[in-house]
Amino acid sequence: MTDALTVRSRDLAQQAMDAMKAASGEAELAQVKSQYLGRSGSVTSMLKEIPKLPPDERRSAGTSINETKKHIEAVFAECRDALRGAALSQGSADPVDVTLAGRATWRGHSHPVTLAWDSICDIFSSMGYDIREGPEVETDWHCFEALNMPQGHPAREMQDTFYVADGVVLRTHTSPVQVRTMLHEAPPLRMICPGVVYRRDNDLTHTPMFHQVEGLVVDQGTTMAELKGTLAEFCRAFFGSETQVRFRPSYFPFTEPSAEVDISCVFCSGDGCRVCQSTGWLEVLGAGMVDPAVFASLGRPEYDPEGVQGFAFGMGIDRLAMLRYRIDDLRLLFENDVRMLEQF
Ligand code: PHE
Repeated sequence: MTDALTVRSRDLAQQAMDAMKAASGEAELAQVKSQYLGRSGSVTSMLKEIPKLPPDERRSAGTSINETKKHIEAVFAECRDALRGAALSQGSADPVDVTLAGRATWRGHSHPVTLAWDSICDIFSSMGYDIREGPEVETDWHCFEALNMPQGHPAREMQDTFYVADGVVLRTHTSPVQVRTMLHEAPPLRMICPGVVYRRDNDLTHTPMFHQVEGLVVDQGTTMAELKGTLAEFCRAFFGSETQVRFRPSYFPFTEPSAEVDISCVFCSGDGCRVCQSTGWLEVLGAGMVDPAVFASLGRPEYDPEGVQGFAFGMGIDRLAMLRYRIDDLRLLFENDVRMLEQF
């Protein structure tokens, strides 16, 4: 009896295989499969005969019928793939389901500080400025001495400094790049120097590392009027043409006279709000005419203080980015939270 079942199941497998191979389409193939493996298919009926067998024959009968089943399933899958492949290569099947939802691809993009950095560089480049860079670890001389801040000068207190070694500092501003450029290039000079700077400061509005852009123009007959025109133009290009700009007298050791530049508050347009502390103005730049003592410290005849004048200015890129993109907490810029960064 077992032998008979095994033989029958092998015959069934062969028949099923022949019928499936002859099927001309997927529908016909599915129909053949169900003739054998469906609820009332012939293989299924054979399985139902097993309980009628003597107990010691049931196991081997079950094994051979299950093998037949697996075999038919394998041949079915093979035939189905072959039919699909043929349909694809004949172009009769539609391989692309245009109704499927697209798969989102993640695209990185520039950080708001980078966006502001690039935009500042673009604006000054369009005004004819060159871009210069310099080292972040600086000598005390380039960072302070040459900029009219000798040892013990009270103005050094304005910039809390990280000391790397005796006479070596992490630069507290990018002004030393201006010193380095003047040591290597003769006037006329028209340059900006973007870069990373460091100060021992860490609170709600300060981080120990931040970004600055400083600018320097040196030529014969450079005036304060040019400085004002240049910076007003820059502020309108960066913050929008409606921006109001004002200059206030200030003090820097390396410029004389010195000024601080304010713009009308970008949050309240000058009406007064929390960010501008109800003044309607926000400070964005430091600037001034280069102090002749800075030219003198270079020891280069091309920079004879009797022959050339210059103006310089400096700004914090992080602060400018915050104002431009209306970010009200400095720390958000450095937390790398993608939900926040995605918005720019
Ligand atoms: N170096 C100054 C600072 O970092 C900025 C500045 C540059 C001010 C040039 C005036 C002129 O504080």
